[in-house]
Amino acid sequence: MGAAMAADDAGRLLTLPGDLERAIAALLAQAPSARWQHAARALSARYRAPRQDDGRALASGERDVLGYLAQFVPATYAQLRGAMQAVARRIPGWQPATLLDLGSGPGTALWAAAACWPMLRRAVAHEREDAFIAIGRTLCQAAPHPAVRDARWSAGDIRTTVARHPTPGDLVVIGHVLGEIAPDERVALLTNAWMRCSGVLLVVEPGTPDGFAVVRAARATLLGLAGVTLAPCPHDLPCPLHDDWCHAPQRIMRPAFQRAARAASGQWEENKFSYCAIGRMPGTQPVWARVLREPTWNKAYAEVELCTRDGTARPRGLKRDRAAFRAIKDLAWGAALADAAALLPPDDA
Ligand SMILES: C[S@@+](CC[C@H](N)C(=O)[O-])C[C@H]1O[C@@H](n2cnc3c(N)ncnc32)[C@H](O)[C@@H]1O
Repeated sequence: MGAAMAADDAGRLLTLPGDLERAIAALLAQAPSARWQHAARALSARYRAPRQDDGRALASGERDVLGYLAQFVPATYAQLRGAMQAVARRIPGWQPATLLDLGSGPGTALWAAAACWPMLRRAVAHEREDAFIAIGRTLCQAAPHPAVRDARWSAGDIRTTVARHPTPGDLVVIGHVLGEIAPDERVALLTNAWMRCSGVLLVVEPGTPDGFAVVRAARATLLGLAGVTLAPCPHDLPCPLHDDWCHAPQRIMRPAFQRAARAASGQWEENKFSYCAIGRMPGTQPVWARVLREPTWNKAYAEVELCTRDGTARPRGLKRDRAAFRAIKDLAWGAALADAAALLPPDDA
């Protein structure tokens, strides 16, 4: 099997579910556009600013939530779906029935999980801010999928509510939240979340060095609790990266409201995310390596940076070997490679 065939099509262009896009557009239409556009810009500045561990919510109140819907939901949906698809490719037969979403915001992960795993039957959204819960509920009513439409919203602080949650979830999602939790409280939250996870725990953060540092520490914590890495790493070893960060891109079409909030004209955008999916069971699809960067090429060779079962590697395909050159040049950033044989010279394979 050629390398291109052994890899997946990570990062392929997504669209926000039509029902979610229309429900957001309808909510935004009820407020003056200057109001949510201003809120989106202010929120964006707060998310970019260095973290203050003062316990104050970064987004609260209806105005902030409208800004969040306009500017961030397409981006976080893309990132969550990108990470979920990587999990689904690793364990294609897995059929999660229940979802616990911790720090749900407006319920983005519920929509993403239902799109990725249509067999989902029940979802519980844990969220602290009343405005996110009210708007999340309204959006969910527009969902065709019963698990999203009938999702239960649990109000409270996940640092305490998760430990009390009565039943485990097959899928537990902590999306763009862990970075908002004080560093010394993350291990306890992850431990409680793991206790409530019967299948896969997924942590997603923005694909920045800071976001990756949060994910890398979370992975180490969960491996210490006897979890198994499903994605992105092709191993359970400590992360081999130094002075670098593991992240992947996911493209999504920009709805009109997001173009307005970002003052951007491009039809689509690429969102970078860092993530780890830790399972109670191993993956069923073999993975030898993960593509860490866009391949590069010149007149002599194509080259790609990989995280492999044995550490990092930078295989080359010489231009004079057209098949090897193409196999490397065509790899998608973020894709999993099933085996080494197609990429490495015979001596290394
Ligand atoms: C950046 S948003 C992410 C929302 C959603 N998970 C997503 O990926 O789009 C972070 C959410 O976590 C919530 N949050 C932060 N800390 C929390 C806590 N201690 N307990 C419950 N929710 C929390 C915030 O209110 C906010 O809705």
